[in-house]
Amino acid sequence: MPIMSVSEAVQRRRSIRAFLPTPVPQATIVEILELARRAPSGGNLQPWRIDVVSDDAAQSLKALMAQRLASGETEEAEYPIYPDALWEPHRSYRYRVGEEMYGLLDAPREDRALRRRHFEENFRLFGAPVGLFFSIDRRFGAPQWSDIGMLMQTIMLLAVEHDLGTCAQECWSLWPKTMRNFLGLGSQEMFFAGMAIGYPNPEAPINSLHTERAPVETFTRFHCSAPGKKDIDQKIGAKWKGDSDPRPFDGPTDVHFHGTEYGG
Ligand SMILES: Cc1cc2nc3c(=O)[nH]c(=O)nc-3n(C[C@H](O)[C@H](O)[C@H](O)COP(=O)(O)O)c2cc1C
Repeated sequence: MPIMSVSEAVQRRRSIRAFLPTPVPQATIVEILELARRAPSGGNLQPWRIDVVSDDAAQSLKALMAQRLASGETEEAEYPIYPDALWEPHRSYRYRVGEEMYGLLDAPREDRALRRRHFEENFRLFGAPVGLFFSIDRRFGAPQWSDIGMLMQTIMLLAVEHDLGTCAQECWSLWPKTMRNFLGLGSQEMFFAGMAIGYPNPEAPINSLHTERAPVETFTRFHCSAPGKKDIDQKIGAKWKGDSDPRPFDGPTDVHFHGTEYGG
């Protein structure tokens, strides 16, 4: 296993949406989880629950999802993935990642059927042999949900060290009943999200997607003394001007975001 700095792992991690069928040894998954449980959680509550689905179980889940998708039915989600009407600049961020992603897939906005087919790849784990599924006791609140995020990111960074790719997948929450039954969740458990994990397909164009991030000064307010301010000025050019948005929405204003079409 390569020795890697945290900075390198953070920079190398990106969402992978095309995997090789190469199996991931169960021992590797266990090793990752053994370390990932060191993720912090408020009060050390460790509010997470994970179901690891691989081998025959993964095949069964993919087959089941193919049936569910073909049925044309839908299920009532237990939580909204995004707020109803996204505001700026987040709306633009979401629009942009969707367009970049479908651009690499040669799926123009008008070809809704093609975009939908690509979206449905989520439910084949993008070809990954392993899916991790995260749930939480429904008595927990927002702080504990954020703890699960910490665990997920820790898993994703450790995966990099093993040359594994990952994609966090909230879209599985669109199928809460199916997931509850498949994973055998108790009524107290609430399904949150999935994560595809496997070896990235290096030839798939979609895996070259390198998403943008807004500059630090757009989401940070620094409260500090004059010498500290000078450091910041030098580092990021003192661009912070209150809460003005430096990158206003530049996509079509009549775009309606559909909950089932990830990112776009
Ligand atoms: C909690 C969570 C859920 C996500 N759900 C999905 C998903 O359902 N499908 C998908 O293709 N990507 C999903 N993503 C990936 C995001 O689109 C991705 O993290 C974002 O665009 C930034 O790109 P990057 O991960 O390559 O840096 C999810 C990410 C997170 C953190």
